[in-house]
Amino acid sequence: MADKRKPLISGNWKMHMNHLEAIQFIQKLSYLLDQADYDTADVSIHPPFTNLRSAQTVLDADNIPIALGAQHCHWESGGAFTGEVSAPMLARLAVSHVIAGHSERRLLFGETDENVNRRVQAILAAGMTPIMCSGETLAEREAGQTEARITAQVDAGLVGLKRDQVGSMVIAYEPVWAIGTGRTATPADAQAGCAIIRDRVRAGFGSKAAAQVRIQYGGSVKPINIADLMAQPDIDGALVGGASLEVESFSRIVRFRLQ
Ligand code: PGA
Repeated sequence: MADKRKPLISGNWKMHMNHLEAIQFIQKLSYLLDQADYDTADVSIHPPFTNLRSAQTVLDADNIPIALGAQHCHWESGGAFTGEVSAPMLARLAVSHVIAGHSERRLLFGETDENVNRRVQAILAAGMTPIMCSGETLAEREAGQTEARITAQVDAGLVGLKRDQVGSMVIAYEPVWAIGTGRTATPADAQAGCAIIRDRVRAGFGSKAAAQVRIQYGGSVKPINIADLMAQPDIDGALVGGASLEVESFSRIVRFRLQ
C-alpha cells in the first residue's frame, strides 16, 4: 500500500521573499528539476499571498509542474473579515494546496483545533488539498503527552469529513520543538509521530483512507536528513521551512532519492 502514495515535498516560505524573488526562485528551481524528479515526487511551494499571482503566471507560462500552495486561509468564503483571504479566492488563482493549522498560526495567531477544522472543510469545499499540521510542543513531549496531543489535534481537525476527503488530503507531523531549531526529530521519532496520525485516520475513517492519506514530516528537514526520513514507511513527504528558501537545498530535498 505504502508504494502507491506519491511523496509530496512542500516548501513553506513563511513570511519570506517578495514577488520578484519568487519569480526568480521558481525559474531557478525549474532548471534544477527534471521529469524524473516530478515522476518521483509531487512538489508544492507556498509563498506569501502577495506572491501568488506572480508565481501562478510563471508556473503557467513555462508549464512547470510544481503545485502552487498557500500558507493559510479563512473558513468563510467572503465577508467582513479584514486582512483575511478565502479558500475560493485562492482556488481562483490556481492554488491547489493550502496549509491549515501550522503551529506558528496556532501559537502566534490563536488558531484552535475547532477553527483549523473549519479551514480544512473550506479548503476541501473549494476543491483544493489541505495540508493539516499537527505536532506536540517540547513541554508536551517531556510530559509524555506526544501521542495524546497528536491524537486530539488530528481527531478535532478531521471532524465532519467524509472518508474519501480524508484519503485525499495531506497531514503533516511537525513537532514544534523541531521547527526552525535545527533539531530534527530522529527518523524513528518522525516515523512514530506519522504512524500515530495514520492510526487515528484508520480508527476514524477506515483502512482505505489510512492507506491513501499522505503524511508529511516537517521540522528542520535538510538535504542531509531527507533520505533517512523518506525511508520510513509512514512518511510520504516533507513540509520544509528554512531549507525551502534556498533553491539548491530545496531542489536537493525534492531529489531525495539521489542523496
Ligand atoms: P523548518 O520549518 O523546516 O524551518 O523547521 C518547517 C515548518 O515550519 O513547516
